[in-house]
Amino acid sequence: MATKTQHSSSSSLLIMSLFLLLLSITVPSSVLSATLRSDIQALEAIIRSIDPSSISPSSYLSTWDFSEDPCEGAGTFLGVMCSFTLENTTSRVTEIDLDDDGYDGFLSDAVGNLTELTVLSINRNRFRGPIPETVFQLRKLTKLSLSGNFFTGDISEGITQLKDLKTIDLSKNSIAGEIPPRISALRSLTHLILSNNHLDGRIPALNGLWKLQVLELGNNHLFGALPKLPPSLRTLSICFNSLTGRISPLHRLKQLLTLDVSQNRFSGTIGHEILTFPYISHINVSFNQFISIEVVQVTGMESHLRVLDAEGNHLQGRLPLNLATYANLKYINLRSNMFSGDIPKIYGKRLENSWRSLYLENNYLSGALPEEFQKISKQIRGSLSNNCLQCPKNVPICQGVQKPKSQCTNAMQEGLE
Ligand SMILES: *[C@@H]1O[C@H](CO)[C@@H](O)[C@H](O)[C@H]1NC(C)=O
Ligand SMILES: *[C@@H]1O[C@H](CO)[C@@H](O)[C@H](O)[C@H]1NC(C)=O
Ligand SMILES: *[C@@H]1O[C@H](CO)[C@@H](O)[C@H](O)[C@H]1NC(C)=O
Repeated sequence: MATKTQHSSSSSLLIMSLFLLLLSITVPSSVLSATLRSDIQALEAIIRSIDPSSISPSSYLSTWDFSEDPCEGAGTFLGVMCSFTLENTTSRVTEIDLDDDGYDGFLSDAVGNLTELTVLSINRNRFRGPIPETVFQLRKLTKLSLSGNFFTGDISEGITQLKDLKTIDLSKNSIAGEIPPRISALRSLTHLILSNNHLDGRIPALNGLWKLQVLELGNNHLFGALPKLPPSLRTLSICFNSLTGRISPLHRLKQLLTLDVSQNRFSGTIGHEILTFPYISHINVSFNQFISIEVVQVTGMESHLRVLDAEGNHLQGRLPLNLATYANLKYINLRSNMFSGDIPKIYGKRLENSWRSLYLENNYLSGALPEEFQKISKQIRGSLSNNCLQCPKNVPICQGVQKPKSQCTNAMQEGLE
């Protein structure tokens, strides 16, 4: 270099400084670069298939600066995690976990070249089109989370090859077709979340998924009877479908904390097993065709039940007395059923000390109110309207009109028959 500058002309100086400038730009990536070349190319392809105008300056993707190495660069490539192994000088991309910045575009096929990927999470953006088939080459994936985008197409059978998957979350997209029955071969699954899509067909037997804790299939077009489900479930939500038959297959799910079967066409009895699951806290069986609910006494046993919503069924007979034995119950909704008879005195006691809301409107309840209803000082949410009650106007929970006499006598006669 020194010899060169000795017989320097101004032009060679210029070339030199240009050369040095270039060197300073390219050196960090060519010398320090440690990421596998094809991983870098895949990241480049991923960002290329996203509309640049949807990448805001504060987003993770705006930090993807390909003049630096994705794995070794200082503070760039937010949302990318890499493996660093001592015996391997080459780093691999192991996780893509993007922010929800409204990225608008397609998920590039090139994602399938990131063969060390364990996490692909791109929730709440504007990705559209089908999930690329190449995703199902990513045999090391443990988490596939594409929730809240505009993905279309079916759930490919290919997904059943990803045996290490623990979490599948494809919720809030426009995915159609059936749930592949062989999904039950994914024995590591703990979370299967497919709610808010256009899925149809029957729910396949999932009892082989012995580690599954969360199953959310709500807001789809699923029909047919409940399949076998794994007893490991802690959350089950299958609301807003067209499921039919009994819910007795749920009696085995003793680990449940939350159960939502609302807005289906289930019928028969809500068995006492369900209300007495040891950890259950929320039960929503509203808007089905159940005709009875079995409420057994739980005195002497700890119940965690806080919320019971059974609105909009065909529940008949007297209000269940034993509800008063559920010590942690706060929210009760038995609105729009066919309950008759009077409101049990014990309901008054519970409203005084523990219950926070009681919705009983639109039934055939009759008679006078328990006296506690009239002297409750704290705020109670609820309603007793549209029954056959003698309801004093000064009691807030009594606001609204009662049924006309004609409906009430008919109902009472039917009840007696
Ligand atoms: C992905 O890998 C395939 C096969 O090795 C190759 O043909 C393709 O160019 C790669 N794509 C990218 C974007 O690197
Ligand atoms: C080690 O490096 C090679 C390329 O040199 C790459 O193909 C391989 O996947 C790397 N292994 C790990 C565990 O990163
Ligand atoms: C129960 O489900 C219905 C319908 O899906 C919903 O409107 C209601 O808010 C739910 N109840 C509770 C307590 O979450």
